[in-house]
Amino acid sequence: MEIIRVKDYAAMSEAASTFLIERINRLDNPKLGLATGSTPEGLYKNIIEKHKQGDVSFKNVKSFNLDEYVGLEKNDPNSYYFFMKDKLFDHVDISLDNVRVPNGVAADLQQECQDHEEAIKAAGGIDVQLLGIGANGHIGFNEPGTPFTSKTQVVNLDESTIQANSRFFNTIEEVPTQAISMGIDTIMNSKEILLLISGESKAEALAKLVSGEVTEEVPASVLNNHPNVTVIADEAAFSVVDGK
Ligand code: PGA
Repeated sequence: MEIIRVKDYAAMSEAASTFLIERINRLDNPKLGLATGSTPEGLYKNIIEKHKQGDVSFKNVKSFNLDEYVGLEKNDPNSYYFFMKDKLFDHVDISLDNVRVPNGVAADLQQECQDHEEAIKAAGGIDVQLLGIGANGHIGFNEPGTPFTSKTQVVNLDESTIQANSRFFNTIEEVPTQAISMGIDTIMNSKEILLLISGESKAEALAKLVSGEVTEEVPASVLNNHPNVTVIADEAAFSVVDGK
């Protein structure tokens, strides 16, 4: 695991966009695993900027998102499909035929999970998977205790995750309690992984990750077993590691 330490959120976003654009430009048909949340927003902004300047094209990119809330329609402003369109897809030259966000309102959710797995496989696997991390160490919506063997599945959200994500909703009751999430094994099958960590609220999670102990109680700790992981984390995220 390579760990890149940067000053702050802006520097993390800048380093992450340079990293991702280098892969998109190098690979013939890049398959990206994409993430939502506050963490990658700055990265997506930078990518849009660089796309406008002609530095990167998404013409040959296929993308697969990590997760989606169960019960939210595509056009719901809190759905991750909406987030991706709003924060990235609508502003770059990607074809919506080439993006796949799990469908949280599918009539058969189990089938939808299987379809997500199959689509990733049919594309030849994910070249670069982008990840954020939860304060509780989750990756995707794989909460503590999720088996490392898990594939894309319907998951129950932790109380702490519902609490954390309630900032986007009017009331906490509106936060969905379930999601479709790529599994830990799905994530680990990616050829390369880029994990972004910013802020003091993630400092405990980063400390657990770099302790080297691999345990299902800290889902992100599994990344210690992956051969090609880059972590870009800012000073605030290092506060616990630094003993502050
Ligand atoms: P955040 O979420 O980027 O909004 O902090 C990350 C996560 O929970 O995985």
